[in-house]
Amino acid sequence: MSARIVHGVEGIRDSVELLRQGGVVGLPTETVYGLAGNAFDPMAIARIFEAKGRPISDPLIVHIPEVGWLERVVHFSSEEQRDLVERLAANFWPGPLTLLLPRRPELPDLVTAGSEFVAVRVTAHPLFQEVLRGIGSPLAAPSANRFGRISPTSAMDVQLELSESIDLILDGGCCEHGLESTIVALREGKLEILRPGPITSDQLTEYGHVFTPNGIVNTPGSLPGHYAPKKGLHIIESDIHGFLPRANSGYLAFTTPSPEIRERFSQVEVLSPLGDLREAAANFYGALRRLDNSKADIIYAVRLPEEGIGLAIMDRLKRASYGSQHLSQSH
Ligand code: TXA
Ligand code: MG
Repeated sequence: MSARIVHGVEGIRDSVELLRQGGVVGLPTETVYGLAGNAFDPMAIARIFEAKGRPISDPLIVHIPEVGWLERVVHFSSEEQRDLVERLAANFWPGPLTLLLPRRPELPDLVTAGSEFVAVRVTAHPLFQEVLRGIGSPLAAPSANRFGRISPTSAMDVQLELSESIDLILDGGCCEHGLESTIVALREGKLEILRPGPITSDQLTEYGHVFTPNGIVNTPGSLPGHYAPKKGLHIIESDIHGFLPRANSGYLAFTTPSPEIRERFSQVEVLSPLGDLREAAANFYGALRRLDNSKADIIYAVRLPEEGIGLAIMDRLKRASYGSQHLSQSH
């Protein structure tokens, strides 16, 4: 069985119809593709966990089309909190910022994995927004990949990942950002970054003290060993002139490598020919997926500058390479 890829107005109609019946649908967002289900339908939520093979201890992000829907899922704990959220929303929504806020009790426990906090964002993707308005309910949606694997940035990627377990994917082209949203918890006016992403800490500083917990696992997505390809993946330093890879290796390059470097590898993927980190982020998962599906036996990825969104790309790269490093150390 192969999940059907649908387009345009008819695709939106079919997606809304299936969601109304309690089904799950692959939907495009501006970050990565999500696997969506009605946030207030526990059966639909259970289907999402089943389709992804995701442990139910790992909660889901709830998506809304406009800030006016926020209080359908959120119960503000103070006026200060509401003010801060309104200021953040005015600047970053719709867009790739997810906020962790106190939940409304009506939300099914499965969505938040029993937590008193819900992760919520206003997606900027016009198709996702239309589907939300069509069904008239917030949609819970994790990234549309099998648990722990590479996130999808095109409808085809979703089909390759989840064809066996879902029926429908709405095609919205390639994702603008290509990396999952920044997740921020508001802690007494302070902003704690739980997952780095397209909105950088520099962009958040004017809203309060920004901090990133060190080594503390706050969300299950913070686990090492996530976003992983099937092949071994190793991070190498940016000066690769003296580096000799094993035969039949793939190379995830930042900028266009010289012919001399290129010929050492059986396949090369370039993230951004001119070294633009935003472009690199948008191409990251697609390039990693192509290398994973290539004939190469092993993948080498070059270290990127850990500034701006480069921090978020390196976060994903380190997690993606975690298992491989572990294996090569124990050999
Ligand atoms: O850009 C994105 O955020 C994409 C698109 C589809 O919106 N979604 C996404 O979802 O990346 P997912 O499930 O792959 O990652 C969500 C992360 C997980 O690490 C999860 O543990 C965390 O957010 N999370 C969700 N709800 C939470 C909650 N109530 N408390 C703590 N962490 C939460
Ligand atoms: Mg994910």
